[in-house]
Amino acid sequence: MKGLILSGGKGTRLRPITFTSAKQLVPVGNKPILFYGIEALVASGIKEIGIIVGDTHKDIKAAVGDGSKWNIKVTYIQQDAPRGLAHAVMIAEDFMDGNDFVMYLGDNMIMSGVQEFIEGFNKAKPDASILLAHVPNPSSFGVAELDGEKVVKLVEKPKEPKSDLALVGVYLFSNEIFKAVKSIEPSPRNELEITDAIQWLIENSYNVSFTIIKGWWKDTGKLNDMLEANRMVLDTIQTEIKGSISEDSEIHGRVRIADNVEVKNSIIRGPVVIGEGTKIINSYIGPYTSISEGCYINESEIEHSIILQNSRIDSIETRIEGSLLGKNVKVSKSKSKPRSNRFMVGDNSEIIIL
Ligand code: DAU
Repeated sequence: MKGLILSGGKGTRLRPITFTSAKQLVPVGNKPILFYGIEALVASGIKEIGIIVGDTHKDIKAAVGDGSKWNIKVTYIQQDAPRGLAHAVMIAEDFMDGNDFVMYLGDNMIMSGVQEFIEGFNKAKPDASILLAHVPNPSSFGVAELDGEKVVKLVEKPKEPKSDLALVGVYLFSNEIFKAVKSIEPSPRNELEITDAIQWLIENSYNVSFTIIKGWWKDTGKLNDMLEANRMVLDTIQTEIKGSISEDSEIHGRVRIADNVEVKNSIIRGPVVIGEGTKIINSYIGPYTSISEGCYINESEIEHSIILQNSRIDSIETRIEGSLLGKNVKVSKSKSKPRSNRFMVGDNSEIIIL
């Protein structure tokens, strides 16, 4: 079995972060989301992965490389535009070369991994197998209608969903899927939908099985989902402190502090991860915060947030909470009067002053 990870697309819901970087590379727990997908496939024994890339191909290639850091072979498959998940499958036909494959959406995170799902597929050998999860907001997903042990109908983002069972971003396919993706028409959002391709298999009497997952799963397309994914990952970390912590600092709970981090006169209350070379001075870093490499935090309080590489937060009196800051962001308080707010902010940014 081979793997196919989808890492193209536009990432419009995470703008402005995704103006300059791929949404699949936004880190949770200081590791790009995409790596959790790669590692889930590697853990289930997959040795060859094709990665679908789009406009952000350079960044994805620079981050993932040839796969040797996971002892696997990675092949990049360029998609000219985000024409849909079924289009991504279509252009991967040569790479699959007759093999069954697991398709994993590069912005999804599944805590329990995918090994059991793959083993079930290999035993039962259906034509396709889908993962489903009960969700409170089914109209944001592909939705499945079941009749006992049978999948009867799949609809992409229905306005009036017939069930609360969402399609999770992991699919298992035999080569029959290539017939299906070539037989469907673009959807109202002008994409070739994998949901429609699987529906085609059902209508043409192919065998489509399903598994309902009980564990935690997230499509990390939006800010709150990213923060929740960050929280789930940080809940699993073990303490590891490599950097230097001054005597007047306090560390509580589980924290992962990388090499060359300096913590001076500060309180760190885990779970927290801090990346290499970051300096934390006279500050409070609260639970569920991931601070990437090379950041500078002075006289400030941060909680339940993700701060990306080389950002500076200086002398901010009000606690920063529930936030995602991009790379090289500067947030500071000026010492001069009169007191006012001064911003230089990119398109589609969001600032909430409480
Ligand atoms: O997350 C689960 C949902 O994923 C399913 O419930 C839906 O049925 C399925 O259509 C999909 O919906 P989204 O609208 O969330 O898909 P999105 O456009 O976010 O794309 C998912 C991943 O695939 C993302 O990493 C970008 C990548 N992608 C997307 C498109 C449309 C590509 O690589 N190429 C593409 O053409």
